[in-house]
Amino acid sequence: MNSFYITTAIDYVNGSPHLGHAYEKVLTDVIARYRRMMGDRVHFLTGVDEHGQKVQQSARKRGVSPQQFADEVSAEFRALLPKLNISNDDFIRTTEPRHKRVVGEILQRLFDQGQIYLAEYKGFYSTRQEQFLQEKDRNPDGTWPEIFGEVTEITERNYFFKLKQYQDWLIGHLTAHPHFIFPSFRQKQVLEFLKEPLNDLCISRPRERLEWGIPLPFAPDYVTYVWFDALLNYYSAVADRPGVWPANWHVIGKDILVPPHAVYWPIMLHAAGLPLPGGIIAHGWWLQSGAKMSKSTGNALNPLDLVTEFGADAFRYFLIREMNVGQDSEFTREQFLVRYNSELANNLGNLVNRTLNMTNRFAAGVLPAAEVTEDPERELHALWAATRDEVLPLWAGFQFHAALERTFQFVTATNAYIEKRAPWKLGKSAEAKDQALLRTSLATMAEALRLANALLRAVMPTAHDRINAVIGHQPGADWQAELHWGDRLTGNKVAEALVLFPRPTPPAKA
Ligand code: ME8
Ligand code: MG
Repeated sequence: MNSFYITTAIDYVNGSPHLGHAYEKVLTDVIARYRRMMGDRVHFLTGVDEHGQKVQQSARKRGVSPQQFADEVSAEFRALLPKLNISNDDFIRTTEPRHKRVVGEILQRLFDQGQIYLAEYKGFYSTRQEQFLQEKDRNPDGTWPEIFGEVTEITERNYFFKLKQYQDWLIGHLTAHPHFIFPSFRQKQVLEFLKEPLNDLCISRPRERLEWGIPLPFAPDYVTYVWFDALLNYYSAVADRPGVWPANWHVIGKDILVPPHAVYWPIMLHAAGLPLPGGIIAHGWWLQSGAKMSKSTGNALNPLDLVTEFGADAFRYFLIREMNVGQDSEFTREQFLVRYNSELANNLGNLVNRTLNMTNRFAAGVLPAAEVTEDPERELHALWAATRDEVLPLWAGFQFHAALERTFQFVTATNAYIEKRAPWKLGKSAEAKDQALLRTSLATMAEALRLANALLRAVMPTAHDRINAVIGHQPGADWQAELHWGDRLTGNKVAEALVLFPRPTPPAKA
């Protein structure tokens, strides 16, 4: 069995989860479920990033301790996961002892090896971004960009990690692994970034300025820079599980690719003598009116509202169907409703309804065997084979939006097949030929539904199970073996009815 380890970013607990956080979990969950379907032994990690200035500040504002604040918000992030039907195997908090221990060990190892040194540093510091700024970060007119908030010049003694000496090594690694970053245009951006010389990385914060962090084991009056702490979660969570590290993929948003994930993280691992992950998937942003949805800009959408209203499956379907992984997407309720109504309720929901209704009406609820193969059947069989052969590589290449599009084209074609065969007309005829065609059309629509449904399993796990239940199908352990057109539904008793995607209740009239 292949071992497959996948992670999400760990979310800052300085505010409630929003659609961007929910998307990342769903995307990673879809990949994790797909790899399990392909037979891998999957380990799926998600969690929260609890240290740092932002959390300390948010806690102060609320007048509670950072730990209490982190406890509350972490619980909120954690509670979201089952609501979204996320199949994570573990959830890490950076305040857990297992994490702090590994961070301490790695810092000590790098310090003992002379890869961390103390130096005086004078520079411009952004509290909001928790980073020292460089001359090149200034606006052309000399002011500091808005995103940095208040910028002050400070002099400090701090600990530095020797990042610079690994620049050529990193360029070499990326050149040797051209698919390290998905999508590949982002890998080019990283190489572009690496054309400028790197600086060593300041990995400490004096305790008098920031208390809320992991103390440096060799200098307890300092805490660890939050990114150095946070990145290590991917390793600390599995340090005690043999055979899991390295991760196959880290799934993150594009805003935290360069430099933390694409530069600091590979270098930290290499310097510590640990194997590198297989790669990084950098997804785009959910926007509202063109602006990134975020905690600080106040345009954050509560994902739970949509889940409560439409169910986790529809929510997951929309996010995965709408966004091309790596690109940005605009979220609008109108677009959500269009997909919900036309694709889920009218197309897929309709196929389920027709299959159940007609089998009950014309075959006493028992699925018959197909007896005839004429052009309409041949065409649908051929379309299935083409769909499956196209969709599997799309899944493997993270083109989930296109895979769902193709899958739904097959659902549309199945509904068109039903129109063509018109079982409701065949049912009125007593002719043997028409009765054979009627039985064939019932068997064909049910089998087509079973097959399309198999391709929806990772995205809509609950709907997948419910559809199988109403057509009396229990999928085998080998998912790929499910993808062949056959007669395994013959003789199954179908359910009376299933409302998968109910019409949304219209808003009450004022
Ligand atoms: O960056 N659309 O935490 P975070 C899509 N703690 N994705 C979005 C998004 C949006 N509008 N807004 C945020 C952090 N995200 C660090 C990570 S990892 C060792 C430490 C994504 O809460 C964002 O890109 O600000 C990131 O991948 C994740 O949500 C957490 O963001
Ligand atoms: Mg962020």
